[in-house]
Amino acid sequence: MSIRIAVLVSGGGTNLQALIDAWKDGTIHSGEISLVVSNNAGAYALKRAENAGIPGVTVLKKELGSQKAFEDRLQEILTENRIDLVILAGFMSILTEEFTAKWPGRILNIHPSLIPSFCGAGYYGLHVHEAALARGVKVTGATVHFVNEIPDGGPILLQKAVEVLPGDTPETLQRRVMEQAEWILLPQAAEMVSAQLLKA
Ligand code: GRF
Repeated sequence: MSIRIAVLVSGGGTNLQALIDAWKDGTIHSGEISLVVSNNAGAYALKRAENAGIPGVTVLKKELGSQKAFEDRLQEILTENRIDLVILAGFMSILTEEFTAKWPGRILNIHPSLIPSFCGAGYYGLHVHEAALARGVKVTGATVHFVNEIPDGGPILLQKAVEVLPGDTPETLQRRVMEQAEWILLPQAAEMVSAQLLKA
């Protein structure tokens, strides 16, 4: 028995790649990456899934016509694939309470700051690092948290601090936070929660 994990993506998929690599090297051994779902047909993350032999599907809100139709289709796909744990990895869609309530303690998200700093509406991707540099923080980092209906508001599971360096741009800071925090925390969290779900 292994926990079936679905990874939801929208973009480059570097966090997905970290999960795939951790699964292949045995860091993640209580779960398996069973499915990748993208809300963007052009996401390079889908190519990463294909390269790893993991089924990838696209669910497009504009084709389905509404957030509800999008979330209903998403729920259908996750159920069909017997998914136990959902991981948001660079997923650019805020899921409503109607959806998240169906997955209590079973949706994880990686956010590129030390929540509660620089999070919530409008804080995603490079915007997070632009805000950290604008505020002049000396330390930032990444957070893995459980997902509820409040954007970036669910219980915090893991955090890792990363130094801001003189001369950092949003791009150099984003890269360091990914390398030194996100790509380490997300696989760690995936294994932790999978192991807990296995015992449940
Ligand atoms: C990263 O900044 C990540 O923290 C955020 O989405 C961005 C892209 O991630 N969640 P990825 O390369 O698509 O995994």
